[in-house]
Amino acid sequence: MNPNALRNDFPLLASGLVYLDNAATTQRPRQVLQTLTTFYERYNANIHRSPHALGEAATQMYEQAHAGVARFIGASSSREIVFLRNTTEALNLVAVSLCRGESGPLALRPGDEVVITIMEHHSNFVPWQALCREAGLHLRIVGLREHGALDLDQLSANLGPRTRLVCCTHVSNVLGTINPVIDVARMTHEAGALLLVDAAQSVPSMPVNVRSLGCDFLAFSGHKMLAPFGTGVLYGREDLLQRMSPFLFGGDMIQTVTESGSTWSSLPWKFEAGTPDVAAGIALGGATDTRTGQRLVGAVDYLAALGMDTVRAHEAALLEQLVKGLREIPRVTVTGPSDCAQRAAAVSFSVDGADPFVVARLLDDEGICVRAGGHCAYPLAARLGVDGTVRASPYIYNTASEVERFLGVVKDIVAHRIV
Ligand SMILES: Cc1ncc(COP(=O)(O)O)c(C=O)c1O
Repeated sequence: MNPNALRNDFPLLASGLVYLDNAATTQRPRQVLQTLTTFYERYNANIHRSPHALGEAATQMYEQAHAGVARFIGASSSREIVFLRNTTEALNLVAVSLCRGESGPLALRPGDEVVITIMEHHSNFVPWQALCREAGLHLRIVGLREHGALDLDQLSANLGPRTRLVCCTHVSNVLGTINPVIDVARMTHEAGALLLVDAAQSVPSMPVNVRSLGCDFLAFSGHKMLAPFGTGVLYGREDLLQRMSPFLFGGDMIQTVTESGSTWSSLPWKFEAGTPDVAAGIALGGATDTRTGQRLVGAVDYLAALGMDTVRAHEAALLEQLVKGLREIPRVTVTGPSDCAQRAAAVSFSVDGADPFVVARLLDDEGICVRAGGHCAYPLAARLGVDGTVRASPYIYNTASEVERFLGVVKDIVAHRIV
């Protein structure tokens, strides 16, 4: 993969901006932007309701986009793929749905236990905290071993007969740690519980196959993997989604409605109430107009053409360079696993005595975008004993020379621009 060649696809990078804030959101390639334009110019109609050819084409394409995402993550069928706004909404869907009495055998009951880890993003922390308070459940929090690895002994100790659900991130957005989800799934299932994986930082960056991982639910955001804002996905095992209650109620998610009650549409539509962002969904999953053969490229098409092994290899090379370079700079401490094989390319670091926001602003002055702060993981920051860190997160279009430039600027900031 040649990142320099890819850069032509990303209009925003043409100015020479060094964009290293990809864990927050990525840039979008022209091909995906073109899909949005093409949809609105040639196919714009509402789905699942319009009896005209335009509406049918839009419906078919939106359904194909679900199938494209299903293929990308190895789901058995598009019935297991719910399009939502983002990872946060997907995680909240599971929390709300499992707590509705109608979920029958799946419903969470007072006294049940939900296990999360200390490295969760607020999106996979706060919904469970709130739910446990409201529904009388117990929240168990698994800690870390040295260098930011998940403590599997603690996980094992926290699994018990009342454990119903384990919620675990695949990749930490702060530490970069890649969690051993296959082991977590085995342990969770041996305890008779379900596993929900927050894959917001893994699906964009490495091959992810839901069946190989053995998870029951998996959530991720399209905007972190080249697709438009407002796109997110919940994967759920079909037999589980089948038995779960809807999340939102309204149009498009019903089969029948009478004065005395309603029944729900088939999967995944039961979980997609109201008019969705059709164009953005197609720009995530891709679709072909079956009448004309015209292809509307989705973000998953773009990534699949590169190959997710290649994406991971490219990120891993930049990660090694980043971690090695930062470690050589005095006063800089890199958080997370020291072995790059155990981690992804979100690299957080602190500069002794310096406010992370000041460091980020000084980098910005040099045309380098990074993130600073608690990265929506305050409980983790508290356990690590830091107020915040600076985070650099490269992606497919970043080059070794950009990382070199970033390291040079950090070195200069540490040596000359902060006391
Ligand atoms: C690990 C992780 N989970 C969840 C989220 C939330 O994603 P979104 O804001 O797209 O819902 C993020 C965002 O940074 C994340 O990094």
